[in-house]
Amino acid sequence: MQKKNRSQIMYGVNLFDNETVVDFMQPYSRRVLVVDRVVEPQVSQLCHLWDNTIAIDGGEGIKTRQSKEHIENQLIAYGCDKDTLLVAVGGGTVLDVAGFVAATYYRGIDVCYFPSTLLAMVDAAIGGKNGLNVGEVKNCIGTIYYPRFVGVDVAFLNTLPDGEMQNGCVEMAKHAILCDDVYRFDAALSAILMRDTTIVLEQIEYSVRRKIVFLDIEIRDILNFGHTLGHAIEVLSGYTIPHGQAVAIGIIGESMLSHLSGYLPLSEYTTIESLIKRIGLPLKIPQKYPFNAWMEALLRDKKVKHHSPYFVLLERMGKPLKKKGRYCHAVDRRILQEVISTIC
Ligand SMILES: NC(=O)c1ccc[n+]([C@@H]2O[C@H](COP(=O)([O-])OP(=O)(O)OC[C@H]3O[C@@H](n4cnc5c(N)ncnc54)[C@H](O)[C@@H]3O)[C@@H](O)[C@H]2O)c1
Repeated sequence: MQKKNRSQIMYGVNLFDNETVVDFMQPYSRRVLVVDRVVEPQVSQLCHLWDNTIAIDGGEGIKTRQSKEHIENQLIAYGCDKDTLLVAVGGGTVLDVAGFVAATYYRGIDVCYFPSTLLAMVDAAIGGKNGLNVGEVKNCIGTIYYPRFVGVDVAFLNTLPDGEMQNGCVEMAKHAILCDDVYRFDAALSAILMRDTTIVLEQIEYSVRRKIVFLDIEIRDILNFGHTLGHAIEVLSGYTIPHGQAVAIGIIGESMLSHLSGYLPLSEYTTIESLIKRIGLPLKIPQKYPFNAWMEALLRDKKVKHHSPYFVLLERMGKPLKKKGRYCHAVDRRILQEVISTIC
């Protein structure tokens, strides 16, 4: 168990063969697998470990109240009571929906996560947040509810497309920037993208540790770095731009905001920009949106206050700007406009 984190985390390969994992699942009266259809074949030979399976499509489109209701209805049909364990296997979207259902079904049942994307391994599975989108409002409904157990099994990465590996690297880069550990991450980046299992496992562990540092409620907001613009990009594109790619553009945009607002030195902005570029995702938004459409999307963010979007700004890498005890800040509208016109 790690400080500030209430889940037991295990790292490895083929974890469902591990005795600790099997023993962890044993005591429950019922175990229900909630799985992304894409990875279902990878766990189908393990059906002795669970009593029922609910297979759903992965992707942003399943983070809805309808999917939540579908899973709840299935649980009721299977006769699941308070002593049920949900075993969620999938990317961040499947974990977000399964986590929300677990948090509210019978006022809370136990859940364990087996993230199947790099992004979910380093981010979505860690820290207990879950969420559903409503209309254009991302993560509009959600809770903080820790999974009892997180099994980071890199065997799932064997089938993950390159673009999804790159999406995961963006969140790893974010954790490294926030911890001023960019050079170490940069040195490992090529090996991660080449899927060198030893390096991938080592770097996932580092990244998770970096995220856990920020889970304290007073500083948790820092993890939103890159996400105010990132979420707006996801919404504006109708979720056709994936989360990781949107956050990559968001990290560059919010670093630029930090620099133009008089905080982050130009040399550090350049270091961050070249790190994100090395991940290799497209960093231009294919369509131009008018500034008022951006504002509308930005004002749907949950950090909005006094009708103004709020951003995590950096003074330096490893030093988010803190003013009046807060890490989220309003910015000058002209500077925001300049940044937006540069990133799209
Ligand atoms: N709760 C949190 O703290 C938190 C943190 C970060 C992101 N998120 C959320 O996570 C989501 C993004 O997560 P994601 O990038 O994992 O998205 P995702 O779940 O949509 O997975 C991406 C794609 O990969 C497929 N896939 C999953 N595992 C695979 C595998 N092993 N092999 C081949 N294909 C596979 C999925 O079907 C999907 O098409 C967003 O909704 C974001 O808001 C949540």
